Parts: sequence; C-alpha cells; structure tokens
Amino acid sequence: MQEQNKTLGIIKPDAVKNNKIGAILAIVEAQGFVITELRKLQLSQARAEAFYEIHREKPFFNELISYMTSGSIVVFSARTQADVKAVEKYRDLIGNTDPSKAAEGSIRKLYGKSKAFNAVHGSDSAENASKEIEFFFSR
Ligand code: RTP
Ligand code: MG
Repeated sequence: MQEQNKTLGIIKPDAVKNNKIGAILAIVEAQGFVITELRKLQLSQARAEAFYEIHREKPFFNELISYMTSGSIVVFSARTQADVKAVEKYRDLIGNTDPSKAAEGSIRKLYGKSKAFNAVHGSDSAENASKEIEFFFSR
C-alpha cells in the first residue's frame, strides 16, 4: 500500500529571494511536520520541464518554467505521524493555488503574490509525493 505520511514541498524562487525560507519552514514544523530531507538548488530548464511534465499543454506552462528557473528553490520532504495524511495536511497549510483565495494564515496567503507566483508547492497525492521525493532525493 502507498505510504500516506510523506509529502514534498518546494519554496519557490520568489519566496527564497524574499528571505522566507526560515519563516515558511517554521510554519511547517509548527504544524507537526518533521523535515526529513532538505536541499537548496537551482532547477535547469530540462529538470523544471520534467518536474512539471503534466502541465506541458497548459497555457501557463512557459510562464511556470521561467518562474521556477528564475532563481534558487528549496525542496524538502516532510513527514507526519503515521495516522495523519501528509499530502492533505500540507496542502491545507499552503492554501488555495491563488493566494487571493487562500485562507487567512495559510502560507500562500502570507507569502504568495498571485496564482502564478504563489511561493510554495505541495504534492497533490501520496503517489505523486513518492515520485517527487524520488525526483529530488534519489541521488
Ligand atoms: P503546486 O503544484 O505548485 O503545489 O500548485 P497547485 O497544485 O496548487 O497548482 P497546479 O494546478 O498544480 O499548478 C502548478 C503551478 O502552476 C502555476 N499556475 N499558474 N497562471 C495560472 O493560471 C497558473 N495556474 C497555475 C502556479 O505556480 C501553480 O502552483
Ligand atoms: Mg500541483
């Protein structure tokens, strides 16, 4: 069975440039997540396109790739207690894709600028969380 208590998060280039790495990780930890792996890196065009392959046909694809390659990002895997679904809990914490629609106190409400420039990423299923953790932390 698919493991449920892990997710992958990304602090996107705008949030890194604004020195929000610590503030964002503090919120994540305060909610009971344990940061299990963590790395600051720069995505190449090819790696960004591979990560966002599912969005290739979307109208925002080129903008998304140029955003995600515009500076350093911080990727991390985080886990919850065994009985807590990490993907759902973390997505609740980051809020709606569009920061203007995100709940008060959510990370995107606090640090996102727009639907395109929304400060953080979170895996959208346990299966994708495993794939994304593998994508960044297998080597
Ligand atoms: P993420 O994958 O980053 O956690 O975000 P999400 O699931 O909430 O949103 P998704 O639909 O997977 O979109 C991926 C990222 O593409 C950018 N986007 N721009 N301009 C637009 O209409 C638009 N829509 C999406 C955002 O950076 C979004 O997080
Ligand atoms: Mg997504």
